[in-house]
Amino acid sequence: MKANGGASSSFFFSSNAKPEATTTTVGEDNEEEEHRENEETKETKPKPPHFDGRNFRKKREEVDDYKLVTEEEKTRLREKVINHLWLAPLTKGGNLPFRRLCATFEAKVLVSEMSYARFLNRGNPVEKTHLRRHDSEEIFGAQIATNIIEEGVRSARMAYEFNADFVDLNCGCPTHEVTKRGLGARLLRKPAKLAKLVEGLANGSPLPLSVKIRLGVEDDKPALKLAEEIENAGASVLIVHGRTKEQRYTKSANWNLIGEIKSRSKIPIIGNGDILTWYEARDKMALSGVDGAMTGRGALIKPWIFKEFYTNTSIEFTAKERIELVYFKLTTFMKEYFGADAIGKKRFDLFMPWHIGFFCRYRPLDEAVYREKAKLNPLLQTRLDIALENEGRIEDLEPLERLLRCVSEEAHADIAEILFQSETSEDAIEKLTRVAESSKLAEYELSVSSSSSSSSGRESSGDVDDMRG
Ligand SMILES: Cc1cc2nc3c(=O)[nH]c(=O)nc-3n(C[C@H](O)[C@H](O)[C@H](O)COP(=O)(O)O)c2cc1C
Repeated sequence: MKANGGASSSFFFSSNAKPEATTTTVGEDNEEEEHRENEETKETKPKPPHFDGRNFRKKREEVDDYKLVTEEEKTRLREKVINHLWLAPLTKGGNLPFRRLCATFEAKVLVSEMSYARFLNRGNPVEKTHLRRHDSEEIFGAQIATNIIEEGVRSARMAYEFNADFVDLNCGCPTHEVTKRGLGARLLRKPAKLAKLVEGLANGSPLPLSVKIRLGVEDDKPALKLAEEIENAGASVLIVHGRTKEQRYTKSANWNLIGEIKSRSKIPIIGNGDILTWYEARDKMALSGVDGAMTGRGALIKPWIFKEFYTNTSIEFTAKERIELVYFKLTTFMKEYFGADAIGKKRFDLFMPWHIGFFCRYRPLDEAVYREKAKLNPLLQTRLDIALENEGRIEDLEPLERLLRCVSEEAHADIAEILFQSETSEDAIEKLTRVAESSKLAEYELSVSSSSSSSSGRESSGDVDDMRG
């Protein structure tokens, strides 16, 4: 444990802590499961003392000497994270090998998959893997979901031990799995209570805090109030995903409102929603005035978007280049991380076909052709239709390109298998070309031709069912 010195008497980690009043829960309408978990742990675990957000730091100092974040550290973080294109927190997608892949394309600020603070504190090994950082990650934030100050502070300490640069509080996840626990977007219902939580976390943690929100729950009316409360409560950075909880991904992100939040804020505002190209990132940043942008699906589809952003240049890789620089590299990183044995292969099979399901949506979108169109509708939503207009018939593309674009899950599993079995990227390219030039390609294409999303069409809600933000 890292402490500022003196006796280490952390009640957060001590089983001898004096039981006191109840914990500070924000988002009071938690459901049955939440209560059941509390019941289960009540008898065995002493409860930490109750602090409200306002007095949290002062009282913390009275009971233990664990490091607290300083004002200088908050300022330094703010300086470090502005003017960047961030990698969004992505459940399943933001695994360490994928973040490492993004770092090869110059991603500099990367956020982990979401961890439930409660499960982290119980030592859940899967949840703890979310805190692991690769050396190539320049600035790394660990995202947590919590509605209890003490629980959040404990997990922030863990993130600190794992060498994170900051902690991000998830206030945007719309899924039932998360909101039924009173977490994620559920926290947006009560801005004043959320502020109390933010205050407790911002003052009681060893790391600076960022907060990631949506614009509201049913509508975007609370957005300005939420942003104001969160800033006043001491968050170092605010990330705004420009949609409401109810909108999920059905509407374009509202960058005008993100801009309005920015114009009233003193802390850095990072805008998020629908960024697929470097020029959309630059244009949206310029128009809204935000201090940085964040991309989620854009990076899952095209991990080299970061390099495009930092060089202000569109990069359109050929199919062979994509296999070498994206598919094979990610395979190599996954083998290193999960292992190349049978257990590692099982993990690989869980993740790699899923990633290929995003990679296959890539389309070249030349800036000269699409920059103006992107101002009307985000390319994330329209690219499949307009790329088809521009490129003509799918039959005219080279077979390897067609194979990489195929949305068949069977094709994704087979591509992943070939990648895993290949020694080099050249070997993988050769084997995949053989498949593409065989009758297998027609079989894959036929198996999905009845599906509306096979070769064109907008991102359907089905694409994003499992998203946590
Ligand atoms: C597969 C997937 C998983 C996600 N998981 C999280 C998450 O764990 N935490 C979070 O705050 N947001 C999560 N999100 C939401 C993104 O961080 C981001 O806010 C959202 O996708 C909008 O950005 P985009 O339009 O660039 O994709 C997830 C999104 C996707 C696509």
